[in-house]
Amino acid sequence: MKVNGTPYRSLWWSDETKALQIIDQRWLPHAFRIQQLDSLADYCTAITDMHVRGAPLIGATAAYGMAFALAQDSSDNAMTEAYDRLHATRPTAINLRWALDRVSAAMRPLPEHDRATAALQLAHEIADEDVEINRRIGTHGLSLIRAIAEQKPKGAPVRILTHCNAGWLATVDWGTATSPMYHAHEAGIPLHVWVDETRPRNQGALTAWELGSHGISHSYITDNAGGHLMQRGMVDMVITGTDRTTRTGDVCNKIGTYLKALAARDNDVPFYVALPSPTIDWTVSDGVAEIPIEDRPAREVTHIQGRDATGISSVQVTPEGTPAGNPAFDVTPARLVTGLITERGICEASEAGLAGLFPEMAAP
Ligand code: MRU
Repeated sequence: MKVNGTPYRSLWWSDETKALQIIDQRWLPHAFRIQQLDSLADYCTAITDMHVRGAPLIGATAAYGMAFALAQDSSDNAMTEAYDRLHATRPTAINLRWALDRVSAAMRPLPEHDRATAALQLAHEIADEDVEINRRIGTHGLSLIRAIAEQKPKGAPVRILTHCNAGWLATVDWGTATSPMYHAHEAGIPLHVWVDETRPRNQGALTAWELGSHGISHSYITDNAGGHLMQRGMVDMVITGTDRTTRTGDVCNKIGTYLKALAARDNDVPFYVALPSPTIDWTVSDGVAEIPIEDRPAREVTHIQGRDATGISSVQVTPEGTPAGNPAFDVTPARLVTGLITERGICEASEAGLAGLFPEMAAP
């Protein structure tokens, strides 16, 4: 998608420097900084400290991390060590394990001298596939937005609430939850997006930055405003992303998603989740019981980053020494989800719904 009119992906390989380039998202929306990853430690830090973030982008970055490691040392031991170090970076988004497993499974049978080139090629494929998956999610989600637009007076915007950033920055391109919005905007359907702030890290500011760059009407709202807007009939639908979805359709996403789903159900607002298939964990059936929820540093809650006339800085919002808790994700049970928007179409959030679209994955 575009930054100041120039198309970008959220990561790309430089043939010149033979290294991965990322957008360092810690500084957005205030500064656009590109970082080159030059060591396995750089890759791990970039994921743990959220220079890159969002489930699909974490997966793609990890695939390049494996390729980087194999270019240094293509032995089985080095591959296992790289897998373990990358896998330990963040626990919740399943795309990380999915990408690491895919690269390892493809490289193990190869002779060592072929692995580095093959792993880089596979990382490129994983990145390109993510773009195509998200494009398809957009075309399927567009049909939902169009159907709502057709029920409204001509010119009235479809009002969509979204939580966190499931935009192009969270993927390689298009985003998941935002892809239907970009497709609807391109199709000339008037939209207004309610962008949840998403404390503590305010990923909503990333979504606002993205939508603003593409001329999509939006308002940045506090996390607590969604229920009120729904009660007043000011939200036509909710679309969020997901970091891990169980085979039964439970959805784990950024903390606060569950509360939006409860409010949506109470107000008969359809609640959709945009779901690329690598985000499905076919080994898990009960999301609340089985998905590991990342606990992030308390400082993300006690402090807040912003910009003033002197630059970007972080200020403390709590009394000195206040203990803080920071669970980063929650689980929305399938019964609260109206539908899952996947690259193969839209299905019910249930084992039967997912198995219908992905029979080859659902088979025991
Ligand atoms: O902690 P983050 O910023 O990595 O969390 C991101 C989210 O929760 C997104 O909504 C999710 O990864 C879906 S992204 C397409």
